Amino acid sequence: MAHGKISPLFVAALGFGALAQALFGDVVPGRYMVEFEEGQDQTTFTTHLKFNRLSADLKIATESEVFKGASYQFDPSSVGDPVAALKSLPSVKRVWPVRTLHRPKVQSAWNGTNLDAIPADIKKFITLKDGAFSPHVSTQVDRLHAEGITGKGVKIGIVDSGIDYKHPALGGGFGPGFTVTRGYDLLGDEYWPSRDPAPLPDPDPYADCDGHGTHVAGIIAAQKNELGFIGAAPGAEIGMYRVFSCHGGTTEDIVIAGINKAFSDGNDIITASLGGYSGWPEDPLSVVTERINAKGVVTTFAQGNSGEMGPFFTETPANGKDSVAIGSTANTELTRIFSNATYSVDNKTTEPFGWTYGQPAKWTNESLPLYVGEWDTHSSCSEFEKAGNLTGHIVLVRELSSCATWYKATFAAAKGARHVLFWSNDSEATSSVFYSDPPPSADEFKHPIAVGTISRAQAMKFIELAKSGKHVTVKITDPDYSTHYLDTIPYVEGGYMNEWSSWGPTFELDAKPDFSAPGGYILSTWPRAQGGYSVISGTSMATPLAAAIIALIIEARGKLSPSELRSLISTTAKPINLLNGTTPLSDLAPIPQQGAGVIQAWDAVHTTGIVNTNKIILNDTTHFVGDHKVTIKNTGAKEATYIISNKGAPTFYALDGTSSHPPPRGPITRRYANVSFSQSSITVAPGQEATVSLSFTPPKDVDAKLLPVYSGYISLDGTNGGELTIPYLGVAASMSEATNIENILIGENTDVEYPRKRVSQGHRFLLPGPDSDPSLLFVQPVFQADLPLGVALFNMTIYSVKNSGNATIHPAPLDQDLGPYPGFPWIWLPRYNRWSHVWNGTLSNGTTVPAGAYTFVFNALKILGDRSKKEGYTTIRTVDIVIDYHKP
Ligand SMILES: *[C@@H]1O[C@H](CO)[C@@H](O)[C@H](O)[C@H]1NC(C)=O
Ligand SMILES: *[C@@H]1O[C@H](CO)[C@@H](O)[C@H](O)[C@H]1NC(C)=O
Ligand SMILES: *[C@@H]1O[C@H](CO)[C@@H](O)[C@H](O)[C@H]1NC(C)=O
Ligand SMILES: *[C@@H]1O[C@H](CO)[C@@H](O)[C@H](O)[C@H]1NC(C)=O
Ligand SMILES: *[C@@H]1O[C@H](CO)[C@@H](O)[C@H](O)[C@H]1NC(C)=O
Ligand SMILES: *[C@@H]1O[C@H](CO)[C@@H](O)[C@H](O)[C@H]1NC(C)=O
Ligand SMILES: *[C@@H]1O[C@H](CO)[C@@H](O)[C@H](O)[C@H]1NC(C)=O
Ligand SMILES: *[C@@H]1O[C@H](CO)[C@@H](O)[C@H](O)[C@H]1NC(C)=O
Ligand SMILES: *[C@@H]1O[C@H](CO)[C@@H](O)[C@H](O)[C@H]1NC(C)=O
Repeated sequence: MAHGKISPLFVAALGFGALAQALFGDVVPGRYMVEFEEGQDQTTFTTHLKFNRLSADLKIATESEVFKGASYQFDPSSVGDPVAALKSLPSVKRVWPVRTLHRPKVQSAWNGTNLDAIPADIKKFITLKDGAFSPHVSTQVDRLHAEGITGKGVKIGIVDSGIDYKHPALGGGFGPGFTVTRGYDLLGDEYWPSRDPAPLPDPDPYADCDGHGTHVAGIIAAQKNELGFIGAAPGAEIGMYRVFSCHGGTTEDIVIAGINKAFSDGNDIITASLGGYSGWPEDPLSVVTERINAKGVVTTFAQGNSGEMGPFFTETPANGKDSVAIGSTANTELTRIFSNATYSVDNKTTEPFGWTYGQPAKWTNESLPLYVGEWDTHSSCSEFEKAGNLTGHIVLVRELSSCATWYKATFAAAKGARHVLFWSNDSEATSSVFYSDPPPSADEFKHPIAVGTISRAQAMKFIELAKSGKHVTVKITDPDYSTHYLDTIPYVEGGYMNEWSSWGPTFELDAKPDFSAPGGYILSTWPRAQGGYSVISGTSMATPLAAAIIALIIEARGKLSPSELRSLISTTAKPINLLNGTTPLSDLAPIPQQGAGVIQAWDAVHTTGIVNTNKIILNDTTHFVGDHKVTIKNTGAKEATYIISNKGAPTFYALDGTSSHPPPRGPITRRYANVSFSQSSITVAPGQEATVSLSFTPPKDVDAKLLPVYSGYISLDGTNGGELTIPYLGVAASMSEATNIENILIGENTDVEYPRKRVSQGHRFLLPGPDSDPSLLFVQPVFQADLPLGVALFNMTIYSVKNSGNATIHPAPLDQDLGPYPGFPWIWLPRYNRWSHVWNGTLSNGTTVPAGAYTFVFNALKILGDRSKKEGYTTIRTVDIVIDYHKP
């Protein structure tokens, strides 16, 4: 949750550790999603289970035209892996282990809880003007509103955390005649996903314990309100399908059931701002999504907020073939609540300024000299090293990516400062508006008692004054008693991709995200009990805006198929340039970051040039598809000529050569694909269509070992005023040659270093025996592996070996295949590192191996590797270990 409060480096460091855990805690132990065969149902399935002496608790059943199935909870300790048994039942079509999906993490700029309730006095300072809501301006939504297009008659199903529909800006009620007309609560309020309690579904999607769904719904359909903004499709009908309880994340079975319900309720568009780490398009959610699209319902999903993880990080279900994955751009304006304060220069003039309080917030009418520090010469934590005694000063602390904010503040505090104002030179937005995360082991550090943030512009003013030798005294009053105002400030990084928006492509090289929309610093509705409005950030916010725009297009152009909609939006989207830190470059942002570009709603509604595709996939060098045809139809009244050209984005390297793991932002190189066209321009008569042939050559002089991802746009620049662009993407290397598994070893569970020390050939382990005192500690074997890139199929087989412990013979001859390691094979793994697992001698059938010598063979399918051939896998055998059991 604290995404925005941690500096990027800290996020990356934490990200890896947390991720490894999240991913392997990812599968809910013992829970499976079963799809029933035609004509079969829960009753026949349960009979079949009993017949096979298996038992399981029904968790959730779901049925629609596209998917009939249920999830079941088996006792994870009673049986080994029931997949094989389940697959053989006549009632079962497919079976998947159920994975957890995370509650979308958002960055909060302010929300109601920050101020308990928005004070009445702020309302008169609202600067939002009708029709000039910045997310709508960047996406041309304001121009469609001006034409009276509001999404009337279009039904949007939102799969999220519930909604406070009693909020006046969301219609104030539920049911026919209101804005929220339909919905369902699939879970209830209790913790999920736990084994107990069972979900407590009810037909009312009301929830105010979590604001996410309320925010998402407001982006789509907020009605005119006291803050002066509206949703992008205020005329649309909303359905809310609640798949998050008040606590924890959710699971695939619940989300499938939610999407399935949204589908059978007749929604035209289904949107879900949630996800799980993936990179592969074969998850059950993606399968269901594909079928829903085939029935004509378009689906939008959040691309993910893990930009710091580097490429190949599209989440599920956004990575599905037919999902529309939405990336996020920063809003061009920031809406912030400021508290009024003043400062004086050399005890003379008094000037007003605005600040935002954070936590802790023990401000008690301070009037203290400001200390500016050596902010521009220190790029790490040492800014206050040379400072004198800071007791009795308010200290300006610059946020840095190289030193966590709370940590830096402790250095100022160590010099006596108790009051700190944060600012950021990297972003107008001062990401750490709230210093609310308690510093780890807070007792070890001195820390301030009162913090707040100011804008970069204000910080610059203070710094200039200090530089010119002036003494600044800042007067700040207790924020509970000061006045507040809501203001929008221009955001210079606005309009570019958010650094945290996740990068594609998928491991199978589908271009993701599909499009982008403003998702950074978005004002929308929030549960009334928590203040009523908030500004938060995430691809979670970009996604509903895209869904709302699709509603506008459907109202204006009539019902279109999902693939027609995708092509229309993709070819009219506006490609944007790359931002390097805070510096805009003249290069296009690569397609794996921005997709087709920022959605342009008016252009999508009014274009008369209709292209038959939304993207061109060139694949890798082994599966290269270089020849493509593109058809353009002219629905206008006049002949149109399109000049065809290639607009390359710089190639970026997924790897930087220092390790097999993609860095957060790989190096870019100005190398481009070459494209030849069957003709340089194409003229299309009214009502006619014409086809152009394209032939691509990947960029030359790139280093294939670093996985060069090249991309760009084919531009069709029309004489009828509109430029259409089609994104393309490929990798100038063979994906199967990329390392997707490494550093496999057996170590000791008592070794806490990373990487652990490898045990040597023939190492002996004494494991707990059946009669051992459970409180005794044993040194057990632990497997460890890194997956720098995803693995579609990961198997691990246990063998017994002859010549146990003879260090001179390795590898010892394999004796007997004892089957897969418990829980294996694993499928569709995202990339992560530091997977480790302690072995206690159990096999997947639940039995324990006898004392003896064993070895382990890992088989990991290479990316796009051939499953049917040995060469398709990376095969690694560990050393042999000898197992003995403790006998008390
Ligand atoms: C809202 O603000 C409170 C107080 O700072 C914070 O704890 C909470 O995480 C914020 N909510 C969201 C969704 O950011
Ligand atoms: C607070 O600051 C705003 C913006 O500068 C200003 O418009 C407003 O008058 C101030 N309010 C008070 C009570 O000083
Ligand atoms: C400003 O006034 C205060 C109290 O009146 C005094 O302590 C301080 O030294 C003065 N500062 C300057 C820079 O004159
Ligand atoms: C800093 O000054 C304060 C009083 O102004 C004093 O109490 C404190 O001991 C001083 N700290 C140091 C480290 O000199
Ligand atoms: C790339 O090629 C592989 C192998 O033919 C195929 O499985 C995969 O779907 C292709 N990727 C895309 C996005 O079409
Ligand atoms: C981006 O910024 C970094 C740091 O300023 C610089 O080293 C790098 O060359 C820049 N990249 C481009 C493509 O301008
Ligand atoms: C280990 O293997 C070597 C080579 O086959 C053999 O000479 C030696 O006797 C073996 N040692 C034991 C303890 O079995
Ligand atoms: C995984 O390994 C086990 C044991 O060697 C084998 O029986 C099974 O077929 C393998 N699974 C796959 C999908 O390759
Ligand atoms: C051994 O580990 C498996 C999971 O791999 C677990 O289910 C089982 O309970 C463990 N057995 C003992 C005796 O700890």
